[in-house]
Amino acid sequence: MKRKLIAGNWKMNGSLAANQALLQAITVGLGAPAACQVAVCVPAAYLAQIQLLLKDSAIDLGAQDVSTHQAGAFTGETSSAMLKEFGVRYCLVGHSERRQYHAETDAVVAFKAQRALADGITPIVCVGETLAEREAGRTEEVVKRQLAAVIHTNGHCISEIVVAYEPVWAIGTGKTASAEQAQAVHAVLRAQLKAATEHSDRIHILYGGSMNAANAAQLLAQPDIDGGLVGGASLKAADFLSIIAAAL
Ligand code: 13P
Repeated sequence: MKRKLIAGNWKMNGSLAANQALLQAITVGLGAPAACQVAVCVPAAYLAQIQLLLKDSAIDLGAQDVSTHQAGAFTGETSSAMLKEFGVRYCLVGHSERRQYHAETDAVVAFKAQRALADGITPIVCVGETLAEREAGRTEEVVKRQLAAVIHTNGHCISEIVVAYEPVWAIGTGKTASAEQAQAVHAVLRAQLKAATEHSDRIHILYGGSMNAANAAQLLAQPDIDGGLVGGASLKAADFLSIIAAAL
């Protein structure tokens, strides 16, 4: 059986000093190897620092975005080959904040996943509905459309991705999807992956959206929730460690 995966998404937070203090507290708190896999997805500017800080730890390094292009005149972007040079194992693609503030379409997200895979980086493909879409009864349709684009573009290596279900209305709002609501969507995503690959069981489907020390155990106990993508609570060592401890 695969181990659960707990990934922190630091978003645009941190400083050289704060990163060092946070990772020191997390690695000391982890002590013995955790029962689950652990990763932190950090701002690109800090990849070099954090690669060094994680050198002797079991925590994997992740990035938060990747360019659809391989190289060239794309000011401000970071290529998958550059991420690879810093030992990046995971890269978020299609986070709702990128879809919302940077107008990333399903097709762009699918190409980003393809670029990451081409350089041996595991894309963490984020999907999720807005509150309006949920209230209109469109949750299933939306997440299936978002995942279908990635499956269509990456068919033969789709078992190499991680999926993160992040209902937009639950991100940073303190409103968590109930364990039942989350499980229902995860089951839909699992079925979609199963239809795409015979290796669907090895794909982690993470839940994200106000996951914290108090609600993690219940969410992580659901049969199709294979881990968490944690925003705010990943910036506090004690909270992040509690979530990791809940991921048995
Ligand atoms: P919060 O845990 O802060 O709600 O953020 C979730 C998220 O967006 C992780 O990618």
